[in-house]
Amino acid sequence: MCPEWRRKGIGTILYNSAYDTLKELKANVLTTYFNVTSENPNEFYKNLGFRKWWVYHEAHYMNKRPMFDMDITFIPYEDKYFHSYSKLIQDCFYQLRKENDIKPYIVPFTEKDRENKASTKDSTYLSFEGKELVAAVVVKDGYIDTIVVSPSHQGKGLGRKATEFAISKALEQNPTSVHLSVLGWNKKAIELYIKLGFKITKTVQFYRQFCDKEF
Ligand SMILES: CC(C)(COP(=O)(O)OP(=O)(O)OC[C@H]1O[C@@H](n2cnc3c(N)ncnc32)[C@H](O)[C@@H]1OP(=O)(O)O)[C@@H](O)C(=O)NCCC(=O)NCCS
Repeated sequence: MCPEWRRKGIGTILYNSAYDTLKELKANVLTTYFNVTSENPNEFYKNLGFRKWWVYHEAHYMNKRPMFDMDITFIPYEDKYFHSYSKLIQDCFYQLRKENDIKPYIVPFTEKDRENKASTKDSTYLSFEGKELVAAVVVKDGYIDTIVVSPSHQGKGLGRKATEFAISKALEQNPTSVHLSVLGWNKKAIELYIKLGFKITKTVQFYRQFCDKEF
């Protein structure tokens, strides 16, 4: 809304007409999101019945090409690792999804996911200790995604090594923009990324409301 037209009830009228359409679609839950800037519309959404849900940050790598001491081996994903990879993802994201109420709490994996994973296998890297899959990262076009360390191996420096590996890979792919996203809840991961040279460049707030409201 242009600044001079604000606080005149127009936003609420627009929202109410959108809500009527959504009601016809029989939506159970409405979600919305916005970039967090100095002009936060928090109160606007709260008054309409929305409640804060979760926040994510986008972060960009700000350092020059680093020289990491790579004493960890990552190998490209292969279909034979599908079950151990799926289990690792489910174990690693259960707490995050539960505490942020992102359903389903256990990430589902189907045969379709298996095919998709196989078709993007070149961007997924796995690290083993003996035969056990202990860490994984996805790196595509400079975007780092899904850095995971098996819960039983966390807190021992593997996450840092996996992230360093991912940064090196991402810089090879796209030297001008290495970036990632992280949930605001994930303080541990945020601390790790900032230590390694990432800077938060954007914050997005999600709100939701359940549709038991009548206008
Ligand atoms: C985030 C994650 C990859 C970190 O892996 P890790 O092996 O536990 O991390 P490391 O042992 O290498 O620790 C690296 C840094 O992370 C932070 N960290 C790790 N454990 C922490 C803890 N229990 N409390 C606070 N910070 C912690 C610290 O900054 C630490 O640096 P330090 O050792 O210099 O203090 C791992 O916790 C994980 O897989 N989490 C679940 C999946 C996930 O959330 N992935 C990130 C998606 S964006």
